[in-house]
Amino acid sequence: MCSLPKDFLWGGAVAAHQLEGGWNQGGKGMSIADVLTAGTKDQQRLITEGLLPGKYYPNHEAIDFYHKYEEDIQLFAEMGFKCFRTSIAWSRIFPKGDELVPNEEGLAFYDKLFDTLLKYNIEPVITLSHFEMPYHLATEYGGFYNRKVVDFFVRYATTVMERYQSKVKYWMTFNEINNQMNTSNDIFGWTCSGVKFSEFAHPEEVLYQVAHHELIASALVVKKGKEINPDFQIGCMASFVPIYPYSCAPNDMMLATESMHDRFFFTDVHIRGHYPNYILKKWERDGIHVAMEAGDEAILASGKVDYLGFSYYMSNAVKSDANNDNSKSLDGSNHYSVRNPHVEASDWGWQIDPVGLRYALNTLYERYEIPLFIVENGFGAIDELKADGSCDDGYRIDYLKAHIAEFKKAVEIDGVELMGYTPWGCIDLVSFTTGEMKKRYGFIYVDKDNEGNGTLQRSKKKSFDWYKEVIASNGEQL
Ligand code: BG6
Repeated sequence: MCSLPKDFLWGGAVAAHQLEGGWNQGGKGMSIADVLTAGTKDQQRLITEGLLPGKYYPNHEAIDFYHKYEEDIQLFAEMGFKCFRTSIAWSRIFPKGDELVPNEEGLAFYDKLFDTLLKYNIEPVITLSHFEMPYHLATEYGGFYNRKVVDFFVRYATTVMERYQSKVKYWMTFNEINNQMNTSNDIFGWTCSGVKFSEFAHPEEVLYQVAHHELIASALVVKKGKEINPDFQIGCMASFVPIYPYSCAPNDMMLATESMHDRFFFTDVHIRGHYPNYILKKWERDGIHVAMEAGDEAILASGKVDYLGFSYYMSNAVKSDANNDNSKSLDGSNHYSVRNPHVEASDWGWQIDPVGLRYALNTLYERYEIPLFIVENGFGAIDELKADGSCDDGYRIDYLKAHIAEFKKAVEIDGVELMGYTPWGCIDLVSFTTGEMKKRYGFIYVDKDNEGNGTLQRSKKKSFDWYKEVIASNGEQL
């Protein structure tokens, strides 16, 4: 029995700033990702004021996909990818963000990239903003806290949607802007919005203001996109880390329900086109004022997305009497999070829970009843490349296999409408949260270390051939 649709979009996912490199080439401007230093699980990446001498900025070269994309796409084609999810680096198109005229060299790069994908019948799935706003918009305008940035984003999005209207059908507006619900770690506000919440007296109010601007920007872009090409499929993208009650104690259950509001807030607006009551009540209760303009409600209502793209890596659990310092949290945990004794965790503390993916799919589909797309999932691990060039990443195969088996159940048993599956970091790239290379996700190994040394040579891991079979059998052969 074959449970997945014939046109199921198997592929892989990446983001421009984590793999392209060429950070100042082809007329590209500096982005907010270009001022992030390398860190580790225990040492935060720094957000520097401009570039500091002696600091290492891993995204500058990344894995040099900017020059090596043809070779890499050939490998994706060999695995049988039906689609490839990447993002456009906003600062390649508008180097500072506030120009009136786009950078032709940047536009031409993505023409070549998309043409190469299409040559191999690989459908591009494009995120418009994946943690890489032009740096100038953050420093000169204050990022998405400033409503003017909405116009700059719409201009950028319109430019690329017009340019690539015959090459790209699947779009997503913003990547994981719900990460910034954690206002205590600056990396999230910075990468989502070009804002450091720690600089404000009332970070939560600033969060909801940038959120409003981004939700307006997304809705405007959805509407514009449909005018450019009615066949476009435009989605939103959220990080989905389900929160379980630690126990069946009613207070744990209620806490989990309340905590889930943080997960649903952005998608509720993207998909339903209005603010949910739980957030209006919160704003009223906490005296949070969000500046809105006349007509904003209508904009939100008229720019609902077609599908929900989401990432799933792990689940969390909460306990009502826990007291967790989550100020540096990189794993979706909150103040009440506790270790779930029923699941294992990766070396980076991300809790491995395949069943949680089926739970996530059910929860999201029951709530929204629109097509879902798993646009990130994967296992960040330390891989060893042997002298003969092989890499036995059986643990990655185990992780992916277990997750695929669960999403198949969601389709087969629960009737969830699932468009596709693009495991994260299909080729090794720079980690977002830590800036490391050694946190690898790929089917393809890239010879580069945490300090930036290495030949950048690509080698197939064991998971490469395994995934090829999975795709060829439409998920039957795991
Ligand atoms: C998601 C992001 O949060 O998780 C990606 O969309 C990121 O950009 C991925 O790389 C995995 O996180 P990390 O920190 O392991 O790279």
